[in-house]
Amino acid sequence: MPKDARSRLTELLENEWGRLGVEGWNAGWIDLPSRLGAKIASLIGADPDEVIVCDSTTVDFFKLVSAALRMSGRKVVVTDDATFPSNGYVLQGCVERSALRVVTSADGISNPESAVIDSLDETVALLTLNHATFKSGWLYGIDILTKAAHERGALVLWDLCHSVGVVPIDLKRAGADLAVGCTYKYLNGGPGAPAFMYVRRDLQERMTSPIQGWFGQANAFSFEMPYAPAPGIRRFMAGTPPILSMAAIEAGLDLTLEAGLTAIRSKSIALTEFAIRLWEDRLAPLGITLNSPRDPEKRGGHVSFGHPDAFAIDRALIEHMRVVPDFRTPDNIRYGFGPLYNTFDDVYEGVERMRRVVAEGTFGGIDPGDRKVT
Ligand SMILES: Cc1ncc(COP(=O)(O)O)c(C=O)c1O
Repeated sequence: MPKDARSRLTELLENEWGRLGVEGWNAGWIDLPSRLGAKIASLIGADPDEVIVCDSTTVDFFKLVSAALRMSGRKVVVTDDATFPSNGYVLQGCVERSALRVVTSADGISNPESAVIDSLDETVALLTLNHATFKSGWLYGIDILTKAAHERGALVLWDLCHSVGVVPIDLKRAGADLAVGCTYKYLNGGPGAPAFMYVRRDLQERMTSPIQGWFGQANAFSFEMPYAPAPGIRRFMAGTPPILSMAAIEAGLDLTLEAGLTAIRSKSIALTEFAIRLWEDRLAPLGITLNSPRDPEKRGGHVSFGHPDAFAIDRALIEHMRVVPDFRTPDNIRYGFGPLYNTFDDVYEGVERMRRVVAEGTFGGIDPGDRKVT
């Protein structure tokens, strides 16, 4: 938790909500989604009026897939088998089964651009991929894939959840159409912090949200019927923004902007390279695999290690070693290194403590049980 998140929330509770009550909306809350969106825009190479903070990634993803299909007139959507399941579920819910094309990875780690490009043709309405995949951290080339999709008349929707705040992104250079992302990973926005969405400016007036809520209406407080979409990206908002969660985002965002993505990416690569070097020496001899790309250019900010008893090892690390990875089925122990706060000592300890857990077999007695969050 960024230190400033606490002071920002205290200020909000005591001086805004506590003193102003609902008048807080006129004292700045109403503009928070756009103000934060403008800050995120500068992390992803977008203009300030092309990004807005609202809802969750899943909901924003649904809104943009539906809007893209409605605009395109074509039916086919291409994705891959590394995409985050929530996105896959949304696609299964709003794309005809025969129109959903899923590119599969040969090794579960990588998914070369050529395989995706081969799946594109003139029937494709939308290509949607996670920029950095959630298990292996494989990093797609936004420029090359956006260009390939455009050559076939398709739109592209990027999910930036695992790359925003750790990998430099330039949506403008790529000519990218649409994107979504969360604020609670590398941006340190806090549990359940709202997501953001990007819509390229020239598409905004041509697309409409399938969730026609009052915050996306041209003048919410006119209470007029029928619905008329707000100009610009605000039309993609739905209902009242969760101001408490939204306000907590700003501290992490400001830190990220202050550090700058060039420095963050360079430390991130150094951290993950160090982890992989340590894996080679200490973990590979124990049968632990590297489930992430070796090439730093094709890797995001996390590294996954593989073991058949990954879940028990993950729990042993959390419960006995004060190391907190994620377990991702079937065999991934995922280390998300935060360049803003993780040190090289942390990386060393994270790998060395895993070595001890596996070499000494201390995960043997651990029953991962029925934990709801892994
Ligand atoms: C790549 C990716 N997409 C989508 C989601 C879903 O995000 P949300 O819970 O904000 O809907 C996640 C969540 O971790 C994710 O990692």
